[in-house]
Amino acid sequence: MNTSFPHGFFWGAATSSHQVEGGNTNDWTGWEKGNANRLAREALSKFGHLSGWTEKFGKEAARPENYISGIACDHYRRYEEDFDIAKELGHTAHRFSLEWSRIEPQEGVFDAKEITHYHHVVRALRYRNLEPFVTLWHWTLPSWLAQKGGVLAAEFPHCFARYTEKISSALGDDVRFWITLNEPDILTGHVYRKAVWPPQEKSLRKYLYANLILIDAHKKSYAVIKKNFPNANVGIAKHQISFELARNTVTNRILKTSAHFLWNRWFLDRIDDSQDFIGLNHYNRNVIDNGFLKNPRNQLTDLGWEFSPESIRQALLELTPYQKPIYITENGLADQDDTLREAFLTTSLRSVREAIEGGADVRGYLYWSLLDNFEWDKGFWPRFGMIDVNRRTLARNIRPSAHYFAKLCRENGATVS
Ligand code: FCB
Repeated sequence: MNTSFPHGFFWGAATSSHQVEGGNTNDWTGWEKGNANRLAREALSKFGHLSGWTEKFGKEAARPENYISGIACDHYRRYEEDFDIAKELGHTAHRFSLEWSRIEPQEGVFDAKEITHYHHVVRALRYRNLEPFVTLWHWTLPSWLAQKGGVLAAEFPHCFARYTEKISSALGDDVRFWITLNEPDILTGHVYRKAVWPPQEKSLRKYLYANLILIDAHKKSYAVIKKNFPNANVGIAKHQISFELARNTVTNRILKTSAHFLWNRWFLDRIDDSQDFIGLNHYNRNVIDNGFLKNPRNQLTDLGWEFSPESIRQALLELTPYQKPIYITENGLADQDDTLREAFLTTSLRSVREAIEGGADVRGYLYWSLLDNFEWDKGFWPRFGMIDVNRRTLARNIRPSAHYFAKLCRENGATVS
């Protein structure tokens, strides 16, 4: 293969505040403390079937401290050092999120010091010629807002718009790309359907209602940014699944159409007039054969997810009806030993290029994640990073696949084969 990616294509990686910063106080803080023992006890029954579990992760996952975000990667203090590495690795863009609980620790009270901190973060990226992709909300909430009901609070959209106004007017001259919400439906699904994330309330009614609230919140936030910065590019990062048919039967086709509509289209359709681009987060396909998740159990990642990097092609092509630029805002895998990551990148990026050739207007690829980090209720053991972070010393070690990716970044993907 020899065609390269479009001119100006962004290459980089992503993180989120709670997963890397350290020292946060938000709705997860108390929950982590209250649930660490339970999560440590449950790890074996949840993951013990994975190959290599006992040798690789068993011990770490059985320790309660694995489930406390604590100092995380100390990225709040080490962001310059981390951006130096990203720069050295040929990245041209970087996605990160703002920690709302730092910026507005009490309702309506904004912390000027924290706003300045994030201004420095944005400037540190600009200084290194890394295009900032700034996420306003990557799931964690200030405690005062969680106490009001979080994403179920009727005032949520109003609060989110007020926070957007404050922070976007401070950073807006230096930011071209804003992501209002990260994977809204994954958050609502984990909180209100699976009830595994705080505040763990299983209710279909709440799940649906929370999604409607988040749609409203996005629209209000979009309007605020565009009012102040008409040229800004604003979108969300949407988790999309490739539903694939094992056999082309009527039942399978009906299942696929319904699942695709509900999972991939419902939310996006509702915000179509309020987004300038689509941020694609892609991790999985779902093979349908008289039911869902009939994926062959071939190669699995450390988390037991199927290794199927080519599915990003379909996910991208299915976004073409929206006729918007697409940025891949997350795509990656948990792979501590770095044995699969290079092949993952090659196949993912080949599939991205095929999607571009097929008409998808893809303009950037941000790998998840720059750093090993705090993977929510699973804690630190899953290693998504291009950079390994030693849990004891927090030393950064660049994995070999990061050097391979660096070559692709520098050549604008010319040798993706
Ligand atoms: C995505 C999340 C991100 C990270 C990856 C593995 O769904 O947006 O924070 O947890 O999964």
